[in-house]
Amino acid sequence: MVMVDTRIIQHPKVWEASGHIAGFNDPMVDDRETKQRFRADHLRGLYVGSPPANPVPKATVVASTEGEAVEQISTDKKLQKLMGVRSIAKQFAPEGADGAWLGGVDFGQGVVTCTVQAVSMETLKSHAAQMPSPFTGKAGALTEPKQFNLMFHTYAGAVFDEANKAYLRPETAQGIFCQAKNVWDTNRVRVPFGIAQTGTSFRNEVTPRNFTFRSREFEQMEIEFFVVPAEHLEGDEKTTNDPMAWYKFFRDWRMEWWQSIGLRSENLILREHAQDELAHYSTATSDIEYRFPFTSPGFGELEGIAYRGNYDLTQHQKHSGAKLEYRDTARGEVLPNGSRRGVAYLPHVIEPSAGLDRGVLAILCEAYTVDPARPSPEFMKFHPRIAPIKAAVFPLVDKEGMPEIASKLHAELRKRFGHLGMIETDAKQSIGKRYARMDEAGCPFCFTIDGETLKDQTVTVRDRDTGKQNRMPIGEVADFIDKALRG
Ligand code: GAP
Repeated sequence: MVMVDTRIIQHPKVWEASGHIAGFNDPMVDDRETKQRFRADHLRGLYVGSPPANPVPKATVVASTEGEAVEQISTDKKLQKLMGVRSIAKQFAPEGADGAWLGGVDFGQGVVTCTVQAVSMETLKSHAAQMPSPFTGKAGALTEPKQFNLMFHTYAGAVFDEANKAYLRPETAQGIFCQAKNVWDTNRVRVPFGIAQTGTSFRNEVTPRNFTFRSREFEQMEIEFFVVPAEHLEGDEKTTNDPMAWYKFFRDWRMEWWQSIGLRSENLILREHAQDELAHYSTATSDIEYRFPFTSPGFGELEGIAYRGNYDLTQHQKHSGAKLEYRDTARGEVLPNGSRRGVAYLPHVIEPSAGLDRGVLAILCEAYTVDPARPSPEFMKFHPRIAPIKAAVFPLVDKEGMPEIASKLHAELRKRFGHLGMIETDAKQSIGKRYARMDEAGCPFCFTIDGETLKDQTVTVRDRDTGKQNRMPIGEVADFIDKALRG
């Protein structure tokens, strides 16, 4: 894997080639009266019964998921008034049900059961005149959906005109494609190999929300993994080195990676896209999704893994006029001396593309634990591998030789694990308060030097999740942490 760090502002033709200027759009709807604009696919309808016999909902709300819409409707009294809702008795989501359900809704004519569902694009177009506004409740104020480009633009150079218009990158991927030939011409790499990049991307999201889940400026982690097109593979390679085999490898490996940093619960799922969901150039795509508290009962995307064929390199080759083919000297006709003639091709690409901010948010949601019975009723159950503080070393009391031993162990642990995270030490306050502070920060292990240590060179290790303490020889502490980081 080769790492690159490409530029945020690239030649505007890059975005023409990638299709972002023509196609990186969100369908937007305006409310003519309040002048508010929102994403058409975020309009949720409150329908009486399910499935709705009438395509026009009784009321609408703007929310990115059905779970979020139910939350808003059931807690926001002002919104309920706007919707004509007098009361809601209970809220539930039956297993396997489409959309989210609201039980016992009273619109003033008795109690009925309602569903909350996305208003389809077709319905928005065909019933624009009857559609109730999410801001005023009035029908007829919403426009039909119109396309709105998500790229931020700026001007490169002294003159602010169309000719000098440039864009802030909406993804890091295109920088990788534009540098791919430079990478394989100047590094000792052979296809299959990957180029990875972490960097900031910008999207003019109309409804940034849910902490860092949807922001206008966010961090992406992307890999473009270049593989040999199936038609150039021979013998066993047809199965072992096949692009689809690589796609499956990355799909499963990325899922395992998210699990390895602590997203182990049933809140993490791998969702393979149906054929009709695929982009025209993709043969297979899957998403790794997490059930965030604000998307529940639905899921939000953390990462997409896509087999993109040679679509991007073909586009950049066409728009730049530069040949981007890779010359593979290990393939082609066998010559009399046993070597190969070589073939030139545009490699195919498997792209794992993840949101770093979304990943951190998922880790925070997964780790956050409430236990009123503990001295720290809220604490963070980070996997040791991801915990910012890997361990803490405490002298039980700030005297009798204990601080000196603690300080020596602290220095040893910092030397060994300091590149992975922090090692804390603290001699003030009661030991209970010091443990509680470390629990809140998600530190998995606290090692305490006490009176026994002075006699037999053992320390206590306290486990954050159970609060249990065990003794171990002071010389085994570093290996104990090392094992936990690998586990
Ligand atoms: N090169 C492919 C690509 O950019 P994407 O699904 O648009 O694909 C990849 O973005 C990942 O970037 C998403 O899975 C998500 O985690 C993250 N992401 C996208 N838009 C975001 C936003 N507005 N705020 C935070 N993260 C975002």
